[in-house]
Amino acid sequence: MTLQFSLVAASTSPETVDTPCLVVGVYENGLLTSAAARLDGASEGAVKRQLESGDINGKAGSVAVLYAPGGIAARRVLVVGLGAQKSFDAARYQKVHLEAARALGRLPVDTAVSYLADLEVPGRDAAWRVRIAALAADYAAYRYTATFKPREKSAQPELKSIAFVAADEARHGLDQAAAIAQGVRFARELANLPPNICNPSYIAAQAQAFAEAHEGVNCRVLDHEEMGRLGFGSLLAVGRGSANKPRLIALEYNGGNAGDKPYAFVGKGITFDSGGISLKPGAGMEEMKYDMGGAAGVLGAFIAAVKMELKLNLVCVVPSAENMPDGDSYRPSDVLTSLSGLTIEVLNTDAEGRLILCDALTWTAQTYQPQAIVDAATLTGACVVALGKHASGLMSKHDDLAAELLAAGEDTLDRAWRLPLWDDYQVQLESGFADVANIGGKSAGAITAGCFLSRFTEGQRWAHLDIAGTAWDEGRKGLATGRPVALLAQWLMDRAG
Ligand code: BES
Ligand code: MN
Ligand code: ZN
Repeated sequence: MTLQFSLVAASTSPETVDTPCLVVGVYENGLLTSAAARLDGASEGAVKRQLESGDINGKAGSVAVLYAPGGIAARRVLVVGLGAQKSFDAARYQKVHLEAARALGRLPVDTAVSYLADLEVPGRDAAWRVRIAALAADYAAYRYTATFKPREKSAQPELKSIAFVAADEARHGLDQAAAIAQGVRFARELANLPPNICNPSYIAAQAQAFAEAHEGVNCRVLDHEEMGRLGFGSLLAVGRGSANKPRLIALEYNGGNAGDKPYAFVGKGITFDSGGISLKPGAGMEEMKYDMGGAAGVLGAFIAAVKMELKLNLVCVVPSAENMPDGDSYRPSDVLTSLSGLTIEVLNTDAEGRLILCDALTWTAQTYQPQAIVDAATLTGACVVALGKHASGLMSKHDDLAAELLAAGEDTLDRAWRLPLWDDYQVQLESGFADVANIGGKSAGAITAGCFLSRFTEGQRWAHLDIAGTAWDEGRKGLATGRPVALLAQWLMDRAG
């Protein structure tokens, strides 16, 4: 369940709002927002007194609580620092909403009213402000609980709803946020689940359950026998070492005209990547449960599109397998025949993502003749080296498609950065034994992975998102981020007009 979102009329005076917690902002150097100034006036200077005492400092993301200030109807006021006003921008706006929601999560309140969606952000409208605010609040409110022993129900209430003070014209931004938040939650929960639960058949069951519950959504699942008959030689090789057999999962949504070509997503669904015979080192291997982050991301974006009832046709294809070492595993030097007919020399079984994606890309193009294909994959460590945790790597030979996706990333702050797919890199994939090798050597690892995929998408309007750095927060308590659900959902919203 996501947070419940609602709007409060922009004309509402903050001192009159009856709520367990009101949220207002102050800029650096004691500059009050209009809501904070009104509260200060109504409470005979309660806000300014805290500024003078240093309990509030205006630093971006800092928080302080005023309890039961006289003259104010709210039980508490959460004062959030906004940083310097002159440099207040979209990224800061998102950050203060995240920090505000994190602070609300620590307070014993089940609801709150926020004046932070009222802050002007250069170049962004009211619907954008409300959308980002609601998504940030829901992001902070998410808790992973699926595999904990049920704890004593704590007496402290949890945040269940939040209202934003904003103009009524922003309402559609709130509705969009509610849909996107469901997609983000789905993606985060699926990716956070351990791989002994979230295996290929589990993902297939989730997709099927979603289709059954939603009018106009259809689900097809191919098992390994069916894929064997069809010639998925590359995908099946990756899954052969695991007792959890591969699946190809396809969700179809027809929200557009019957004749319109669909948009297509393809998401890497490796439910655990041990590396296979080219075994990974032990340290940090547990993070490879997130190697289905691309699958989670495209499924989440699909869910968001369905919930928004976007007027377009969409397919979401997930090749899913587990990469394990075993007596029956595929091995370095094997030559595979892919669904496309191209043969592939395996030089490293840990470069498995591209091997399941290539067959899925071929099948998607053949089955649906889509107007564009975007894949998302936790594909290379090299992409994390290049771009870190902030940007997903974007690769495409289609400048218009790349521009659309970069714009959607900027809009949602789920940002991507483009890397080239020049032919100059293709020689790194040459093989003496097959049409192509599955690795490209030491340099430009993110790009050569993209180049490998490009060989299976010729004639398609295709783009690739490498989300290896962005799909989860690393470390013991890191969680899946739900990226790139927001980017992909926005891209579709922009296409649906
Ligand atoms: N799933 C990994 C990529 C990855 C690594 C994502 C670390 C996030 C963090 C992928 O299957 C992989 O193992 N890639 C190899 C490719 C190499 C063998 C050419 C890599 O990046 O090391
Ligand atoms: Mn791997
Ligand atoms: Zn992998």
